[in-house]
Amino acid sequence: MKGRHRRHFLLDPDIGHLNHGSYGATPLPVLRAQWDWQRQMETRTVEFHVRRQDALLRQARAPIAEYLGADLDNTAFVVNTTTAMNWVAHGLPLGPGDQVLLNDHEYGAVFRCWRVFAAERGFEVVSAPLALGENLIECLERHVNPRTRAVVVSHITSATAQLLPVAEVGAWARQKGIWSIVDGAHAPGHIELDLEHLGVDFYMGNLHKWLWAPKGAALLWVAPDCQKWIKPLVVSWGVDPIHPIEEPAWVAWVQMQATRDPSSFLAAPAGLEYQLRYHQPLAESHCYRRMGRLTRQMQELGAQPLPWGHLKMRAFEWPFPQDPLALHRTLFEKHRVELPVYRWGEKLLVRFCLQHYVDDAELDRALQGLSESRVAARFL
Ligand SMILES: Cc1ncc(COP(=O)(O)O)c(C=O)c1O
Repeated sequence: MKGRHRRHFLLDPDIGHLNHGSYGATPLPVLRAQWDWQRQMETRTVEFHVRRQDALLRQARAPIAEYLGADLDNTAFVVNTTTAMNWVAHGLPLGPGDQVLLNDHEYGAVFRCWRVFAAERGFEVVSAPLALGENLIECLERHVNPRTRAVVVSHITSATAQLLPVAEVGAWARQKGIWSIVDGAHAPGHIELDLEHLGVDFYMGNLHKWLWAPKGAALLWVAPDCQKWIKPLVVSWGVDPIHPIEEPAWVAWVQMQATRDPSSFLAAPAGLEYQLRYHQPLAESHCYRRMGRLTRQMQELGAQPLPWGHLKMRAFEWPFPQDPLALHRTLFEKHRVELPVYRWGEKLLVRFCLQHYVDDAELDRALQGLSESRVAARFL
């Protein structure tokens, strides 16, 4: 079947974009909205930045917060999930003797962020090995101790595409008296969210992955009793703006960072409109059906799907010995598909992302490339 609404995207028609998860893909109606904001910024620059920008950002956040089940005052725009994680790691009062608990499915840059702050401030980062399909709470329970002050988990993991039970983690953490921090990079627009009722302390998610926003748009949600921990990471005008603004102090700190282009934030509602008009629910259920078919096809090739959630992103264990970089290059150069192939521990994984713009012909090329690589692997 042909990919739907492919004309909405600038994606090179010659390359199968099977890696939506890394950077998303921005539809033209959303890019046009962004360009229009940039035009307004460039035509009346001072008016735009000084007199309009703060109110526009609040207006733009409102529909996004509502869609994600969040109170407006508990949310702030940030450029990406990594930056949001830095705000939280920077703000929490952690020091010598404290521990922060992650697990080995967490994202590399998130680990780095915590390790850098830990090295500077003398606390420790612990990575709990979480076996595939293992109960996360039992795993955390084995590694928690009186020094643990915070737990960091992904809602949807990057390498292994696991949907983790973050509400359970939030309840578990509250009961232990530790902070729960959720990396929801892949969640907004991908799974249903009701942030006010999730029961966690900090939640950050990209709008530029699965909610079609321009690159550089993400949301940080912070529970009211934790907002005091958001301390300026970039010291700018913040709560002492030239003109008084309507935002809570913590939001002003996070959003008011000197001169920058806010157009990706302002165009984020256009991404949400795109989602509601073209993706949910019809095109979305089409993606899930295709994921079912793709899973069967991968199994026929000998690949094992990792235990998954109901997602448009799925990782498979590729059991044939191969150099991941070489296989990735062959898939791109010979079969013209962008498909991530990488090692995760001892396993070689291949991760597919489906969106409505993906053509069956592109999936077939990927399957053909993988099938040929099995033959090559026998001669290694
Ligand atoms: C689980 C997870 N966390 C964080 C990130 C970082 O996202 P960003 O580069 O937008 O900050 C990613 C990116 O793919 C991710 O998969």
